Amino acid sequence: MRILLTENIHSIAQEKLLEEGFQVDLLPHAPTEDEYIQLLKKYDILGIRSKSEITAKILDANSHLLAIGAFCIGTNQIELDRANQQGIPVFNAPHSNTRSVAELVIAEMIALSRQLGDRNSLAHKGEWMKSAEGSKEVRGKTLGIIGYGHIGSQVSVMAEAMGMRVLFYDVIKKLPLGNAQSKTQLDELLKESDFVSLHVPETPETKNMIAAAQLAIMKPGSFLINASRGSVIVIEDLVKFLNMKHLAGCAVDVFPEEPASNKQKFSSPLQGLKNVILTPHIGGSTEEAQYAIGLEVAESFRKFLRYGTTSGAVNFPNVELVAKSNVTRIMNVHRNEPGVLGELNGFISAARANILGQYLSTDRHIGYLVTDLELSATVGASDQLVKQFQSSSRSIKTRIIF
Ligand code: NAI
Repeated sequence: MRILLTENIHSIAQEKLLEEGFQVDLLPHAPTEDEYIQLLKKYDILGIRSKSEITAKILDANSHLLAIGAFCIGTNQIELDRANQQGIPVFNAPHSNTRSVAELVIAEMIALSRQLGDRNSLAHKGEWMKSAEGSKEVRGKTLGIIGYGHIGSQVSVMAEAMGMRVLFYDVIKKLPLGNAQSKTQLDELLKESDFVSLHVPETPETKNMIAAAQLAIMKPGSFLINASRGSVIVIEDLVKFLNMKHLAGCAVDVFPEEPASNKQKFSSPLQGLKNVILTPHIGGSTEEAQYAIGLEVAESFRKFLRYGTTSGAVNFPNVELVAKSNVTRIMNVHRNEPGVLGELNGFISAARANILGQYLSTDRHIGYLVTDLELSATVGASDQLVKQFQSSSRSIKTRIIF
C-alpha cells in the first residue's frame, strides 16, 4: 500500500502507518489540482488537511484510490459525492479536539468573570486597574450548556469540578453526567444561567437560535460563550445586549464570516466592546488535538486496509469489522441497483465457496458488501472470483484480504 500524506500532517500518522508496513510519502504543501492528478497515480491512499481541494476532476483521474483521510474536522474540501460514487471512503477525525475546545470554554468563563481580557490590555498600556468591582468567582455559579454532545458534556464535567451548578439543553435525551440537570425548555436554561455556552452543530434549526428574544431572557449580568458555529448567534443582537449592559460580557471563537487565511483582515461588530473576548476559531487548535487527529485517521486507514472497516467514513456505508482467521475476505463496492447481490453471490456459489459471514451496508447510490469465505475453499479460486466480481457492470471496486 502506498500512502501520500500532504500538508504537514502530524508525524504520528506516518509513524503509525510505517509500523503497519505501508509505504508513506510526505509533502509539506497542498498540491494544485493538476499536481494531484499526476501525483496520485502511484498512490492507493491520500491524506490531506484543509487546504487541499480534492475535486471531481482529481477523483475521476484517480478512481483507483482506496480511501482519503481528512486529517482535520471538516470534509467540505473534498468532493464527497464523487468519492462515494468512485467507491472511495473519506475518513476524518471529528472528535479529536473535543477536550481542547472544552478547556478553552472553561478558561473563558474565568476570564470573563474577572474581566481578564480588558485588564490585561490595560496593563499592557500602562494602566493600573486594581478593583474587585464586577469580578466574581465561578464557584457556585450556574452554567447552562446548549448541546450536550462530545464537547458540551466535557465542559459539564470540568465545570462541576470547579464547583459550578450545570444545566443543559439538548434536542436528544442525554444521560446527565455528575450532578448536571437536563432542561426540556431552552428558555428555562437561559433564565437560570450565569454563563451560557453553545455546543450545537450548524443546522437549519440552530441557525440564529440565539437572537434578541433569547438574549432578553438571559439573566442580567450573565455571560455568553460561543465556540460552536458562527451562524448560531445573531451578532447584531448580541452587540445590542452588550451595549445595554444586559450581558456582562461574551467570548466568541466562531463567526458568521471568518477570514480564509491568517493573511486576511478580520472584522466584527463585536470588536472594541468591553469584556468581549474574541479568538480566531482556535477552540480545537492545540498540538494535542493535531496529534490525536494524526492517530485517529491513521487508525481508520489501518482498520480499513486490514479489515475493510468503514465506520466513521463520512460519505460511505459504514461497516464495522474485525479480523478473522482462516477466511478470505472480499470487499466489493457496487452501484445500489436491484439484483446486484444475487449476481455477486451467484459467482460465489459457482465457485463452490462457503460463505462464513456476509456484511452489507448501503446508501442511496452504492452498496458495500464484505464477504468472508472459507479459506480452504477459495485457495486458487480467489483471483478468479475477484475478476468475476469486477466483471459485473454494477461493480465499482473489489479488493481481497487473506
Ligand atoms: P456533537 O455532535 O457531539 O454534539 C452536538 C450536540 O448538540 C448533540 O448532542 C446534539 O443532539 C445537540 N443539538 C443538535 N441540535 C440542537 C439544537 N437545535 N438544540 C440543542 N441541542 C442540539 O458535537 P461536538 O463535537 O460536541 O461539537 C459541538 C460544536 O462545536 C459543533 O458546532 C462543532 O462544529 C463545534 N466545534 C468547534 C471547534 C472550534 O474550534 N471552535 C472545534 C470543534 C468543534
